[in-house]
Parts: sequence; C-alpha cells; structure tokens
Amino acid sequence: MGTAFPMLLVLSLLLYPNGISKSLAARPPVVNIGSILQLNSTTGGVAAIAINAALEDINSDPTVLNGTTLKVETKDTNCFDGFLGMVQALQFMETDVIAIVGPQCSTIAHIISYVANELRVPLMSFASDATLSSIQFPFFVRTAPSDLYQMAAVAAVVDYNHWKIVTAIYIDDDFGRNGIAALDDALTAKRCKISYKIGFPANAKKSELINLLVSVSYMESRVIILHTGAEPGLKLFSMANRLNMMGNGYVWIATDWLSAYLDANSSVPAETISGMQGVLTLRPHIPSSEMKGNLISKWSRQSQKYNHSDLRVNTYGFYVYDSVWAVARALDAFFDDGGSISFSNDSRLRDGAGGTLHLEAMSIFDKGKKLLDKIRKVNFTGPSGKVQFDASGDLIHPAYEIINVIGNGMRTIGFWSNYSGLLSTVPPEALYSKSPNTSLANQQLYDVIWPGQTAQRPRGWVFPSNAKELKIGIPNRFSFREFVTKDNVTGSMKGYCIDVFTQALALLPYPVTYKFVPFGSGTENPHYDKLIQMVESNELDGAVGDIAVTMKRTVIADFTQPFIETGLVILAPVKRHITTSWAFLQPFTLEMWCVTGLFFLVVGVVVWVLEHRINDEFRGSPRQQMITIFWFSFSTLFLRKYHEHLRARCVTHMAICCFDHSIQLYRESYFHPDRATT
Ligand SMILES: *[C@@H]1O[C@H](CO)[C@@H](O)[C@H](O)[C@H]1NC(C)=O
Ligand SMILES: *[C@@H]1O[C@H](CO)[C@@H](O)[C@H](O)[C@H]1NC(C)=O
Ligand SMILES: *[C@@H]1O[C@H](CO)[C@@H](O)[C@H](O)[C@H]1NC(C)=O
Ligand SMILES: *[C@@H]1O[C@H](CO)[C@@H](O)[C@H](O)[C@H]1NC(C)=O
Ligand SMILES: *[C@@H]1O[C@H](CO)[C@@H](O)[C@H](O)[C@H]1NC(C)=O
Ligand SMILES: *[C@@H]1O[C@H](CO)[C@@H](O)[C@H](O)[C@H]1NC(C)=O
Ligand SMILES: *[C@@H]1O[C@H](CO)[C@@H](O)[C@H](O)[C@H]1NC(C)=O
Ligand SMILES: *[C@@H]1O[C@H](CO)[C@@H](O)[C@H](O)[C@H]1NC(C)=O
Ligand SMILES: *[C@@H]1O[C@H](CO)[C@@H](O)[C@H](O)[C@H]1NC(C)=O
Repeated sequence: MGTAFPMLLVLSLLLYPNGISKSLAARPPVVNIGSILQLNSTTGGVAAIAINAALEDINSDPTVLNGTTLKVETKDTNCFDGFLGMVQALQFMETDVIAIVGPQCSTIAHIISYVANELRVPLMSFASDATLSSIQFPFFVRTAPSDLYQMAAVAAVVDYNHWKIVTAIYIDDDFGRNGIAALDDALTAKRCKISYKIGFPANAKKSELINLLVSVSYMESRVIILHTGAEPGLKLFSMANRLNMMGNGYVWIATDWLSAYLDANSSVPAETISGMQGVLTLRPHIPSSEMKGNLISKWSRQSQKYNHSDLRVNTYGFYVYDSVWAVARALDAFFDDGGSISFSNDSRLRDGAGGTLHLEAMSIFDKGKKLLDKIRKVNFTGPSGKVQFDASGDLIHPAYEIINVIGNGMRTIGFWSNYSGLLSTVPPEALYSKSPNTSLANQQLYDVIWPGQTAQRPRGWVFPSNAKELKIGIPNRFSFREFVTKDNVTGSMKGYCIDVFTQALALLPYPVTYKFVPFGSGTENPHYDKLIQMVESNELDGAVGDIAVTMKRTVIADFTQPFIETGLVILAPVKRHITTSWAFLQPFTLEMWCVTGLFFLVVGVVVWVLEHRINDEFRGSPRQQMITIFWFSFSTLFLRKYHEHLRARCVTHMAICCFDHSIQLYRESYFHPDRATT
C-alpha cells in the first residue's frame, strides 16, 4: 500500500510526460472527412448543406474538438451510372480522410464498403438498404433507419387496412431489389403477400413505364407500393394519372422518397401535388425539439451559401447533420484516449495488386478501428433525436410517420415505431417510457382521404382481367334439387350449396374468378366418387355440393366442415366433483323443476280435456285416464326431443368442398403461372 502511490505517479509521468494537457496539444490543427454525394440530386444537395452546417457549428463550438478544425472534401459522383460512380468513388478513396459521409446511393455504398473495410475508414452512410450490414462491413455505420423498419411499417399499414395482396413497383437496382425483399419478409410475417412485383431500370423510357403501369392495372391487387427514387417515382405518378390509375379504388403507398422530395423541394409544381392526392407515404420520425427548430431556422442561410436556396431541410438533412456531429464527438473521445492520426500504405495494394489502377495510392487509416469503436459508442441528442447505436449497429428506436398527401401538402395520420411494432396516433417518444404494449387493440390511425377524394377505404382488389378461372364441379342432381342443380330455364347452377359457396367467396379479402362445371346429366344423380376423382386428378379445381364426407374421399380430397351439423363438440371438465346420484337435477333449481312438471301436467290435462271425448286412448277408468295424462306429459318431455334429433340427422353429411384454404393453393398454381419465377 505504501509503494502504490509513487508507482502510479511514475507510471502516469511515463505515459503523459507533460501532464494531461500534452494529449490535447498533440491534436492536429486540421482533420479531414470526406463525403461522396450526387450533388445535383435533392438528397445530395440537402446532405451537402447539412454537412457544411454541421462543420460550421462544430468548429465554432469550443466544447468539441477545441483547437482542431474539421474540414470536408466532397466528391460529386453519379448514382445512375454505376460504373462511373464507382470509379469516381474509388479515386476519392485515395484522399486521406478519417471518415466518410455517404455514399448516397446503395450501389456505390456496396462497393465502397469493401474499400472502407480495407482502409479502416468509418463510413457514415445514410443508405437505407437493409443488406448493408455491419456484420459484413464492420466499418459501415448506418446513420438513418434501415429499410427493414420502413418495410415493417408499410406491412403494418397494409395489415391495418385488411389488404392481403399488394403489387410492388421498384427501381431495379440494389436499393430497390433489397427493399422489396425486406417488404416481402415483412408482409409474410403479417400473412400478406406481394402478388406481383415488377422492376424497371433507372433509365427506363416513357413507353416502358407505360407498359409497366398497364400490366399492373391488369392485376387483381389495387394496392401498389412504389419503392424508387424521386425522379422515376414522380414520372410514374404523372403517367399513372394519365392512365386513370390515381382514381377511385387504387391505393398508392410510396416509400420515404416521396416525403423526402416534398419536404426538401420548395418549388414543387402544383400539378405534381394535385396529381397524387390520396397517396400514402412514410417519413422517418424525428421528434420535434429545440435543436431541430434551431437547425431549421439556420437552414435558409446555409442553403443560400451553397447556392441551393430552393432546398429545404428534410429528414436526411437531420441525419447527416448528426452523423457529422457523431464523428466530431467520437474524434474528441479518440484524441482524449491518446489516439493520433496517421496513414500508411497498404502492403497488399503495393505488392502488384494495384497495377495501372494506381490503387497503391490508397492508404490505411492506422487507428481506424479505434475511431470506429468511439463512433459506435456515441451517445448524444441532436436535431434528429437520440443518436446512439444498438448492438446490431442501427440507430435506436426507429420510427416512421405515416403521411397522407392531401390538398397542397401532407398530413400525418399516425406513427409506426419498432418499439411495439404498432401503428398509433401518439408520437412514439411518448411511449418509450412505458413498457411496450403489442396489443392490436391499441392500433389506430386517423382517417385517410384515399385517391378519388373518398374517405371510404378501398377494397384493395378487383377481378383481374388476365386470371385463369377456377373450375368448380357441381353435381347436376335429379332428386333433392334444392341442394344443387342446374336450372332448366337459364342453365345456371342454383341451390342451397351454391348460395353458401357464393356467400363464402364474398367474405374472402381477395378476388376469386370461377366457373361452375355441371357434372352429370340431370336425369339421374351423378356418381359422386367420380366427381371427387376429377378434383384429385386436377380436371376440376374444386367441387361444391351435397357431397358426403366419407373415409375414402377424405384420403384424396380436402373437405370443409359439413355445414348443417359440424359433428364438432367441446368437452369441458366439470369443476365440482359429482357426489350424489341426483346430480342430474342440478341444471335446474327446485322451483324450476316444479314449474316444468306443472306445465307438462297442465298440457296433459288440456290434451285430456280436448281428446277424451273423441279419442279411445283417453278413455277407461279414472285411474287409467290419470295414467294416460301422466304418460302423455312425460312423452312430450322426452320423446319429442328424440324425434327432432332423428329428423336432424337425416340432413347431415352435406359437404361443400371449396373454401379458403384450398382456393389459396389453387390460386398459387393457376393464376399467372408465368409469375412463378418472380
Ligand atoms: C445529375 O447529373 C448527372 C450527370 O452528372 C445526370 O446524368 C443526371 O441526370 C443529373 N440529375 C439531375 C437530377 O439533374
Ligand atoms: C423541385 O422539383 C421540380 C420538379 O420536379 C424540379 O424541376 C426542381 O429541380 C426541384 N428542385 C430541387 C431543388 O430539387
Ligand atoms: C480551448 O482551447 C483554448 C486554447 O487552447 C483554451 O483557452 C480554452 O479554454 C479551451 N476551451 C475549452 C472549452 O476547453
Ligand atoms: C455560389 O455561386 C457563387 C456565384 O455564382 C460562386 O461564386 C460560389 O462559389 C458558389 N458557391 C458554391 C458553394 O458553389
Ligand atoms: C506510399 O506510397 C506513395 C507512392 O506510392 C509514396 O509516395 C509514399 O511515400 C508512401 N508512403 C509511406 C508512408 O510509405
Ligand atoms: C447515454 O447518455 C444518457 C445521458 O445523457 C445516459 O442516461 C445513458 O445511460 C447513456 N447511455 C449509454 C448506453 O451510455
Ligand atoms: C426492433 O424490434 C425488435 C423486436 O421487438 C427488436 O428485437 C429490435 O432490437 C428492435 N430494433 C431496434 C433498432 O430497436
Ligand atoms: C395493452 O393495451 C390494452 C388496450 O388498451 C390493454 O387492455 C392492456 O391491458 C395493455 N397491456 C399492458 C401490458 O399494458
Ligand atoms: C327440370 O327438369 C327436371 C328433370 O328433367 C324436371 O323434373 C323439372 O320439372 C324441370 N323443372 C322445370 C322448372 O322445368
């Protein structure tokens, strides 16, 4: 104990020869970060302004990176030309930067993530592509919510409105395809599905887009999810308008590209907005706060400085602003922890691998891993809310706003948050303090004005013009024609079974086209076993009729529950032990038994009064007549029930053989077989 203090003193003198201030003095005067953006796009412009706003604030704030100026080097890349964008981004990686904001587009982010891994440069990306994971790319830091959550929100909206099938239109690149894969998973979890997906290339011509929309209009689903960028998305909307696909009956859900565009662009043409009335879109939820308000009020000055006074701040602006702050704070902690900035040549690139591409010009950020750790540990509140990463590298508490485009603006109709996975009209930050309640009873949204200016929720499907019909076999009966038969006059099928079938179909939340195929001549009852055989051999897709459920038939076909008497009973345990042999008296109280007995006696007496003059059965000695009265009373009590029971049994065993489950199966194989590959 006596020597411990001097030992520590010596150690700290060795580590910090000039005391703690030494580590601050060792800080470099200038540190560079990079950014890879497409500056002429809306999001790129907003991001560039946000980075500069953040740098200005950081450099004027003495509490963070005191004495060090943070600078940014921006590379303008082309997102649409994948190759050119890749080369531009690769060239940029030769710059010695300690972190990179961007890349903006998913395609380039995939490539650059490999390079960032090799060079140990943290990538502060706001690409939402869910397949860019911090597992494959440890240096990839996602500073905006991932599409996984966005698609879960879309699926929640679809499920909330009781739609079962949707059509997905997406831009056919990494961003679009991976987004739709996430949507597929999210919908499957809600027992919904994408019945038709169709992609288009980023440089699609007008005629291609029109063909795409026409093919979508032939499909049964009227719920269309549009996952693209702003430019092609707006083009699609204007064409859909001309094709009358923005009217009554249609539902359009645009992912967050639409809200990002409408938020950022201060000069949206009026006809663009009026052409997408009723569209739903999503926006990452950013709680309102003083810091958010400050950034908004600072924004116009910043955007003017950047010659982009027409750009307002959107959610990406807040996320980018905070990602620069995250780097600054992490860098501060990095320096406090004795970190220093140095770059060294990559021996793997120097030894020939670089070749004429001059890849050897790229250098490794030596302490990159350490800076990355600091970034993952940041914990502060910025304009975008709480900035903190969870174990999987995502921002904590992802949440979305559900927005309805009406009038000349947008109206928030509710929120989705990952916290409970439910839609709610309460902002999610109000819920984080409570324990998550996943009860569907809490799920609620405000009313939506749908396309066609209606408040009535669209059904979400129509009978498709290109689907194959289900062939439903119908026994053409000769006897008991009430159950099912062919109408002599009109030739259509009718009867009780047909009514039940059509009523059941009307309850399905998706369309089923079918035609009835009469089986049998109508002059004699058809052979039902043969009918079932035709279902098994796929000559028919199903059969409807008074088909008895027999053992032999259940082996080859699925039956619904018999609709007259199901044969299902519920066995429930008796709570109290029955101790007396008089337990059968328990259902009624003593008074009830007396009243019941009295009633039957009264009935017996009344019948005796009416009958004894004309009916020999009620004559005889007074004793015999008393016995007859009692006997009659009790026979009405017990025998009538027995008769009713017998009568009911005669009409059981009628079956109807085509319902939800089997229809689902047939739909999969019979509708649009060409889709099986998508
Ligand atoms: C941005 O510039 C690229 C070429 O550098 C061009 O292909 C693209 O159409 C431009 N985008 C916009 C929105 O102006
Ligand atoms: C706003 O939208 C219009 C129409 O799409 C477009 O011409 C204009 O360039 C956009 N402005 C910005 C700043 O992106
Ligand atoms: C920042 O550094 C200057 C000079 O190096 C010093 O005077 C000042 O106190 C520092 N501020 C803070 C908040 O550390
Ligand atoms: C903005 O425009 C002015 C005048 O055209 C130009 O001098 C300035 O460099 C531009 N600023 C930026 C950030 O592009
Ligand atoms: C890295 O390589 C470049 C040229 O390939 C050379 O100019 C530079 O001095 C090298 N740096 C180090 C630290 O080796
Ligand atoms: C983040 O900071 C807040 C206070 O600013 C603190 O209460 C919280 O525990 C911190 N979280 C972590 C994970 O360090
Ligand atoms: C989202 O919710 C799921 C399930 O409740 C949970 O496992 C996951 O960690 C949450 N993600 C975030 C980023 O909060
Ligand atoms: C969740 O919300 C429902 C409906 O408001 C309520 O009945 C239930 O008790 C809540 N559950 C918990 C665990 O708070
Ligand atoms: C229809 O045909 C059946 C058998 O051929 C016959 O018994 C029945 O009377 C006919 N019904 C009508 C309305 O013609």
